[in-house]
Amino acid sequence: MTTTYYTLGNSGLRVSRLALGTMTFGTEWGWGTEKATARALFDAYVEAGGNFFDTADAYTGGTSETWLGEFIAERGLRDRAVISTKFTMNLEGPEPNSGGNGRKNIMRALDGSLKRLGTDYVDLYILHCWDRLTPPEEVMRTLDDLVRAGKVRHVGLSDVPAWYASRAQAVAEFRGYEPVSALQLEYSLAERNIEHEFVPFGTRHGAGIMVWSPLASGLLSGKYRSGDAGKASGRLETVRGTANPGFQKFNDRNWAIVAELEQVSATLGKSMAQVALNWVATQPGVASTIIGATRLEQLKDNLGALDFEIPAELRLRLDAASRPATPFPYSFFGPEIQGGITGGAAVGDKPAGYYPDLLMRGTFAGVS
Ligand SMILES: NC(=O)c1ccc[n+]([C@@H]2O[C@H](COP(=O)([O-])OP(=O)(O)OC[C@H]3O[C@@H](n4cnc5c(N)ncnc54)[C@H](OP(=O)(O)O)[C@@H]3O)[C@@H](O)[C@H]2O)c1
Repeated sequence: MTTTYYTLGNSGLRVSRLALGTMTFGTEWGWGTEKATARALFDAYVEAGGNFFDTADAYTGGTSETWLGEFIAERGLRDRAVISTKFTMNLEGPEPNSGGNGRKNIMRALDGSLKRLGTDYVDLYILHCWDRLTPPEEVMRTLDDLVRAGKVRHVGLSDVPAWYASRAQAVAEFRGYEPVSALQLEYSLAERNIEHEFVPFGTRHGAGIMVWSPLASGLLSGKYRSGDAGKASGRLETVRGTANPGFQKFNDRNWAIVAELEQVSATLGKSMAQVALNWVATQPGVASTIIGATRLEQLKDNLGALDFEIPAELRLRLDAASRPATPFPYSFFGPEIQGGITGGAAVGDKPAGYYPDLLMRGTFAGVS
């Protein structure tokens, strides 16, 4: 791994550009790993210079947090490790205040995570998913209380509407709360819808994007092929037929993206997984890309994803094959309508670095 670190959003927290996802730590969900493999994945990531670990209270019924905490302790890495975990999901059954984003559940959930992780603070505490109820004022005030209590260092949001993230950041800014430093969102060549709202929001308002499912759950490794149902083994075969929207990847649009990615990767002499990861990790607004694996050879392949550049002409081909639709109101922000606003005068986008106080790409030289 190229061990450069980006600051997370507008914070001073330095994180590896490739984070280690631990949703595959544990076999409870049917597509994860045994403990020995999880430890080998952890060791390989640390030995490659990585410092950023993503988990959640809900992953594999708590096993992910428990093993991650153990592995960090075994190697004496607590000071060096940046631990990101999440709350929202209900692990207790039909008990309304044991899930969601209300103050009562956030405080309960954090205590559980700290116990499982075997630590007294987390570096990044993330709301996992909008619960459609709790106002951002309550969430941001509670998270700020936890920062002041020393249990949390930085805060983030995952899987929320952009209006909610924007309101939360404005509340934090004007009330002096700890701001949102991270937006954890699905992003890949197969899922680019965050480009409409979250990329401009994050880059203007100091929140770095943490990419989840950068390989679209393994689709972009090229192991699944149109019409070959049941032939490949992997998560997307295991979950075939389930309703989770994150797993619905087999469609004509995605097969066309996979085909273009295969050609570009062959031209570059790199694996499809490496090219897909490189593409997303170098998109505007991305602070860190969370890589996941079930096997050591997958992780080693993925750790090489930043060791090369995709030439502009090949990048254009990937961009074109994967471009998302432009629904209203975004259709009004292209040259056809915008030309009418400027009266035809050439008014370019702001140059890179125009927002110097909110620079998300503060890198510092490799520490290994
Ligand atoms: N906030 C959220 O809502 C949210 C949601 C999802 C994930 N996440 C986070 O993001 C992390 C990464 O997400 P993800 O696991 O979905 O990422 P992903 O990169 O899209 O998928 C990873 C899976 O793809 C397969 N794979 C990975 N590298 C490969 C390679 N080189 N060759 C062939 N197959 C390969 C493996 O599954 P198989 O071996 O089974 O094929 C692996 O477990 C998670 O661990 C979690 O921390 C967050």
